[in-house]
Parts: sequence; C-alpha cells; structure tokens
Amino acid sequence: MSIWTVLVLVAFAAGASAQDCQCNTMKWANCDGTPCVCTILLGDNIRQPLNCSSLIPKCFLMKAEMYRAKKGLSTRTGGKPVESAFVDNDGIYDPECESNGNFKAKQCNNTEECWCVNSAGVRRTDKGDKNIKCDKLVETHWVRLQLTHKPVTTPLNANDLKAAIANAIQTRYGNFDKSMVENVEYDADSRMIVVDVKKPIGNRQHDLANMAYYMEKDVKVLPLFKDDKVKFAPTLGNQNVEMENILVYYVDEEAPTFTMKNLSGGIIAVIVVVVLAVVAGLLVLFFAKKRQDRKYKQAQTSEMATMS
Ligand SMILES: *[C@@H]1O[C@H](CO)[C@@H](O)[C@H](O)[C@H]1NC(C)=O
Ligand SMILES: *[C@@H]1O[C@H](CO)[C@@H](O)[C@H](O)[C@H]1NC(C)=O
Repeated sequence: MSIWTVLVLVAFAAGASAQDCQCNTMKWANCDGTPCVCTILLGDNIRQPLNCSSLIPKCFLMKAEMYRAKKGLSTRTGGKPVESAFVDNDGIYDPECESNGNFKAKQCNNTEECWCVNSAGVRRTDKGDKNIKCDKLVETHWVRLQLTHKPVTTPLNANDLKAAIANAIQTRYGNFDKSMVENVEYDADSRMIVVDVKKPIGNRQHDLANMAYYMEKDVKVLPLFKDDKVKFAPTLGNQNVEMENILVYYVDEEAPTFTMKNLSGGIIAVIVVVVLAVVAGLLVLFFAKKRQDRKYKQAQTSEMATMS
C-alpha cells in the first residue's frame, strides 16, 4: 500500500467520523472532537455535555429553550411556524436542574416565588415564598397522552391502534418498553386517541416525562431530534397517522397538594355539582327517615292504644 493510499484512507476515516459526530436526539447540540462530545448551551458559558444515545432530560431541554428564547435564537428550525405555539407551551420556566438532568424538587423561575414540581417539572403544589419546603422530587409514574390525529383517508382500525402506537413510541423514543403502553382508547368521531403509559411505582429506569415532552414537541411544534422532518406518526395498515394536537396529563406517585383557590373554574363547577348532589341525597334520606319515624310512632301509639 502506498503512502498515498494510506493518507486517502485516513482522510476518509476522519471525514466519516466527523460526519458521525452529531447528536441524533437533540438538534440544538454542538458536537465536536475525537472522541465526539456533544454539548448544549444552558446559559452564558454553561455548556452541558449530553448523552446523545438517549433522550435528553427535559430539565436540560427546558433550560436550553429558555436560554434560546432570551437570546432571540429560534427554538424551531426551518418551520413555517406560528410563534404562539411556543408561548402557548404550558408553564415553561427556567428550571434548576440536578447534574444528572433531573429537576430540583423546588423551582423558583429566578423569582422570589417558588413551588414544588414532579419528575416532569410540572408544578404540584401551590406557589409559595422562597421558604417553601419540597422534601423530595415526586415521580410521575403515569402519563395520559390525549392525542387528536389528522383526518385519514381510510378509517382506523381501533383494534390495531394499541400495537401501532406502542411500536411507534418504542422505536421513536429510544428503548422505551412498549409494555408500558397500558391502555389505548379511540373515538373515531372526534379523532381522539387516549393513550395511558404507566410504569410500576418505584421504577426509576424509564422516564415518562422525557418521552412525553419529546412527543409534545413532535406534535405541537417541531421534533427535537436532529432529523426534524420525521414526526411521530404510528403506522396502521398502509397509512401513517399524523397527529395534530396533544394534551398530557400527569399522575404522580403521590397526589399533588393544590388547594381550592388554584382550581380552575371547571373543576370548581364539578365540585359544586357533586356537593349539591350529596346535599340533595342527604335531604332525601333525612325526610325518608323522618317519615319512617312518624310511621313507627303512629304504629307505637296505636299499639299502645290497643294494649290499654
Ligand atoms: C448513555 O445512554 C445509554 C442509553 O441509555 C446508556 O447505556 C449509557 O450508559 C449512557 N452513557 C453515559 C456515559 O452515561
Ligand atoms: C417564568 O419567568 C418568565 C420570565 O422570566 C415568565 O415569562 C414565565 O411566565 C415564568 N413562568 C412561570 C411558570 O412562572
């Protein structure tokens, strides 16, 4: 082998490895060097190294997103996007992350007002002052993904839907155990697919929050993956079912501790109706009891009358 062949081979290998140095799970990452290291900017001069073989922790993603928004950097690439979709993104704040990418249990969004969050970084207590106590990070062990799909040409077969969704989640969101997709319900008229993803209480291996966050971005804005042209679209029969909306409900290992004043009007209305129903039920019972008592008394008096 001539020296030139070797040189060409070396150059080729270098080129190939440079091409391989990219972060498939995060399009905003910067990758460089041999060995390839990928980082993301979380603040001025704060470069967080990333493990691009798995989904990036949501806390890092939110922090990067806040930083990019502050810097006026696009949080989307190549889209024809309505800016409102991002602002609309429920409750984004500048989170405090642990070094492993977990959320700190207490979050203050750089203000004097603080609250406690779950492992998905979602507020689970009332807001309080700086001295609020959050003993630990409570794990989200169940997410309900309420998806609406785009119109389809062939009606979807509800029986095949569960397997299709579970497969799509497992392949797209990296080694996700598809047996955790527990329940899928479908309403063809409203095009709504409700997916329950649950893990056993105590399981810390799988992170439902990251999966749900990647899916939210897939559906609402643009994918966070390097390849942001391909979206989450389960395959059913010979069509790819694209989604147009998503709502995520979080269920934690411990119930949240919101108080009434933070409940929304809808929930308050439901509570009022339930209370009214209970009161009505009690009244019915009360009067029924009274009537019975009266009958009993009457019976007693007539009995006494016959005895005497
Ligand atoms: C990166 O993630 C993969 C997949 O979850 C894991 O196997 C690997 O140990 C991680 N690497 C580091 C350096 O944490
Ligand atoms: C966090 O702070 C930013 C501005 O600093 C604000 O726009 C955002 O609404 C705050 N988020 C929460 C959840 O308080």
